[in-house]
Amino acid sequence: MNKKCMAANWKMFKTRQEAEETTRELMSLTAAKLPSDREVLLIPPFTAIASVAATIGSKTGFGVGAQNFYPAENGAYTGEISPDMLLDLGCSWALVGHSERRHLFHEDNEFLAQKVRFGLERGLNIILCIGETLNERKNGQLATILNKQLTSALSDIGYTDIASRLVVAYEPVWAIGTGEVARTEDIREAHDYVRSELKKIFSSAADSIRILYGGSVKPDNISEIITLDNVDGVLVGGASLQAESFSRIVLG
Ligand code: 13P
Repeated sequence: MNKKCMAANWKMFKTRQEAEETTRELMSLTAAKLPSDREVLLIPPFTAIASVAATIGSKTGFGVGAQNFYPAENGAYTGEISPDMLLDLGCSWALVGHSERRHLFHEDNEFLAQKVRFGLERGLNIILCIGETLNERKNGQLATILNKQLTSALSDIGYTDIASRLVVAYEPVWAIGTGEVARTEDIREAHDYVRSELKKIFSSAADSIRILYGGSVKPDNISEIITLDNVDGVLVGGASLQAESFSRIVLG
């Protein structure tokens, strides 16, 4: 069975030195305490990936991910980074479809499907982020939106080891960076729905695909969230920037 994935999305924060210091502090705060059924995934900006990977070394229970990549092997794509370049840095995971990429950078479902396919093909493990806006929720479109985001990104993917290569992160847009955490019944409803949709796509393999919750996760709400059925980890923004607060989430 896969471990619970406790992921830190550092977004556009931290120099190399700051990222190294936070990583070192986090490793020391969690040393000998990290439960064997949990793993930590640090997702720094591109510029700090190599430093974080070197700081982690071969420590078990810790991994490194990227926040983005471009779905091509190489080529004339000024400013972009390929999956091979990330793998070369010691990075084995990447986010695809974070709401900030969807909304600020206009990445649509079709482009995100290309990214998922290409990233997996080149050997990255993928965390596909999905979630509805407040308006979509108010208009009763939760299921329609999640269905569209999942089926468009995942329908053509057929790997036998999919459960260890793919994670889905449910992050309601209205709960990201707002301090407004979804109610446990909202999280339960969305995660149950995601699981049932994954089953339609991947049959029994879907039982082991991890579904993370993200959106204003903090040390004081982690225990309530992490114990819900179908919550297999969390994707944390603001509260992951300080080692002290993220360590309490990781161990919480
Ligand atoms: P916050 O934890 O700051 O709400 O951010 C969530 C997020 O976007 C993680 O990817």
